[in-house]
Amino acid sequence: MPNAIVVHGLTKRYDTLAAVDGIDFTVPEGKVFAFLGPNGAGKTTTVEILEGLRNRTTGDVTVLGFDPWTDGMPLHKVIGVIPQDFRFFEKITPKEAVEYYATLFDVKVDPMRLLERVALADKAHAHFDTLSGGQKQKLGLALALVSSPKICFLDEPTTGLDPQARRGIWDVIRDLRREGRTVFLTTHYLEEAELLADQVAIIHKGKIIAEGTPAEIIRDHGRPERLVVEGPPSLGEFLKKRLDRPVTVEDGHITIQMRDKSDALTVLRAIEESGIPWKGFATVSDTLEDVFVGMVGRMDDGIMRSEAAP
Ligand SMILES: Nc1ncnc2c1ncn2[C@@H]1O[C@H](COP(=O)(O)OP(=O)(O)O)[C@@H](O)[C@H]1O
Ligand SMILES: [Mg+2]
Repeated sequence: MPNAIVVHGLTKRYDTLAAVDGIDFTVPEGKVFAFLGPNGAGKTTTVEILEGLRNRTTGDVTVLGFDPWTDGMPLHKVIGVIPQDFRFFEKITPKEAVEYYATLFDVKVDPMRLLERVALADKAHAHFDTLSGGQKQKLGLALALVSSPKICFLDEPTTGLDPQARRGIWDVIRDLRREGRTVFLTTHYLEEAELLADQVAIIHKGKIIAEGTPAEIIRDHGRPERLVVEGPPSLGEFLKKRLDRPVTVEDGHITIQMRDKSDALTVLRAIEESGIPWKGFATVSDTLEDVFVGMVGRMDDGIMRSEAAP
């Protein structure tokens, strides 16, 4: 599959700060790519370099075959952008805003149909300053779609929205993917990346610390699957002696690290043999959030710094 975006050795310095510190990644065409990281990680800096709004310090960047900084004009015709904290004129209505963008891009669109696509048709005639946060973001999405772009850049489109409004934005992102568009999404919500993204890159302090599908990242950087049993500490002690696997006891829960799925049977058999009463069990896997919190925590402790160094 051809790549929509190719980034190699990208750096961006602000005086002495390396906000983006030598990153490489590719975004395949027609996929949702989530650029995941905490505040200040370097997400907006990277997105704005890809959009041609900021120049890079060093590195190679290609977006749909264009260099965003030197070929900004042709690039802007084929990408759609919602900046972080999207704002607009207070007294303009969504319908007027779409018409205004259509004039700017010199394209024909049906404003009402576009607003229906982002579930904002009922607010077509409301002033921008009366829209909720979610409705403003939906308008941002509609405007990003006016030119029918090949790539949509969405910089934290759901930050600060309530759960229902976030789901509304997710639906639009899924539609964009279904239509074959590439979506470059930045977010600090891990479950959002896990739910929507085909590919994820985790950025922390300007460096990419993990990359792949959510499942690959969890497999490569997460802890093994665990079996958690509700039972008394004596059962934990029994299992520690009986099983050749890490066992921890905390708050009435005994956690046994498994080697693979079938290991669950061995563990449950040992529990039965103990004769100690127990209530229930569940298997627990790491989520992307667990992996992220663990990796960032270890990096901040300095443990991974030597590994991250070239
Ligand atoms: N124009 C700028 N001048 C100086 N420092 C900046 C500028 N823009 C961003 N930074 C700094 O660069 C780092 C990355 O910022 P940013 O890319 O906005 O991160 P994110 O979008 O992941 O929150 C932060 O430490 C931020 O303070
Ligand atoms: Mg940002």
